[in-house]
Amino acid sequence: MVDVVIGGFFGDEGKGKVIDYLSSKAKMTVRCTGGNNAGHSVKVDGKSYAFHLIPSGILNAGTKAVIGNGVVIDPKVLLEEMKILKKNNISVDNLYISSKAHLIMPYHKEMDELQEYLRDADKKIGTTKRGIGPAYSDKMERCGIRMEMFISKDFEELARININKYNAIFKMYNYPELNFDEVILEYKKYAKKLKKYICDTVDLIYKSLDKKEYILCEGAQAALLDIDHGTYPCVTSSNPTIGGIVTGSGIGIKNINEIYMVIKTYSSRVGAGPFVTELLNKTGDKIRELGHEYGTTTKRPRRCGWLDLVAIKYTSRINSATGLVVNHLDTIGKLKEIKLCVAYKYQGKETMKFDTNFAVMSKCKPVYETFKGNFKVNGITKREDLPKEAKKYLDRIEEVTGVPIKFIGTGPDREDIIKC
Ligand code: IMO
Ligand code: MG
Repeated sequence: MVDVVIGGFFGDEGKGKVIDYLSSKAKMTVRCTGGNNAGHSVKVDGKSYAFHLIPSGILNAGTKAVIGNGVVIDPKVLLEEMKILKKNNISVDNLYISSKAHLIMPYHKEMDELQEYLRDADKKIGTTKRGIGPAYSDKMERCGIRMEMFISKDFEELARININKYNAIFKMYNYPELNFDEVILEYKKYAKKLKKYICDTVDLIYKSLDKKEYILCEGAQAALLDIDHGTYPCVTSSNPTIGGIVTGSGIGIKNINEIYMVIKTYSSRVGAGPFVTELLNKTGDKIRELGHEYGTTTKRPRRCGWLDLVAIKYTSRINSATGLVVNHLDTIGKLKEIKLCVAYKYQGKETMKFDTNFAVMSKCKPVYETFKGNFKVNGITKREDLPKEAKKYLDRIEEVTGVPIKFIGTGPDREDIIKC
């Protein structure tokens, strides 16, 4: 049986919290999409671990941690993450890397930077500059390097062709060219260290499914950053929605049980692009401070605003969400007054249609309902014991989206979670 945890807005919804909760009973946890543009931290015994590539299920000794075929891997970052875990006495022997996952090479990172530089000031995406877009472009272009190629004798030749091509482009734009020998020397060291972890993860997954084991897929990024369904071009270069989970792991759709879509009681976004309920005022600043909304990966301050249920209804449909996970109930309770976007006003009419077209989005104005804040939820373990203001707010989220809430985040610590 497979459960999936997936992001419902623009990322950073606190997917790590519910993943941490569910992965304790999982025999296997799987990352399916994205790369080290993702970032979430899990606090265990007072120590915080930041994960970018490795599924956080690795923290449980009995759980296999799989990096699926849909992921793009920066080997340097991966080895660094492994090193930190080992230093803290967490074994990485249960790490499995798909032979079909793609490699992020130094030219991808440089190209990411160059592409961003070449975009006009008002057209910049604000990427994480981790080489994600160019690595996926090469995958689609069929000149990417899979992990199985990385550890084979063909690696040098494949890298040579790509480095020559990218160097020609860098030269044209007066960008520093890569030194082939240096790159090969460095990457061959990485390949040697990673070789024993690389395998056919699809086979591994099906062996586990045949044994009726519980598998958890750890989503990265989120629906509105989806290359197809998000606010293109201000998106990431993969499909963080349910389709990407299926393709990025090889897990057939009929094996999937729960699709938990994670949201917050407010909204945040990193990087550029439309954001209908964004608050460019003191309330927005206050939410940022109360929710500690600064990036795990890039440390950038996140843009903040009210929860947008037009967007959430759309993303829950695309993801086939079977349940919502609502995080940061404690955070929003610290405000005196809370607003919830329950519709948009577009061309004089109220609508529930979420349109990713920028021109349409810029004309959509949020229609808000107001709720009372000033409530405390820390330490509460049952939904029925929540303060009535909090209950009202949550009930309305379910009513508008049509999706039941299955978990509620009530604080930053591991145990601050209500299972509904
Ligand atoms: P987690 O897993 C929030 C955003 C970047 C940028 C856009 C494209 O922590 O929720 P990319 O480097 O992917 O080409 O950048 O996507 N972005 C994220 N925003 N959370 C993430 O991941 C993100 N991963 C990418 O800020 O706007
Ligand atoms: Mg993050």
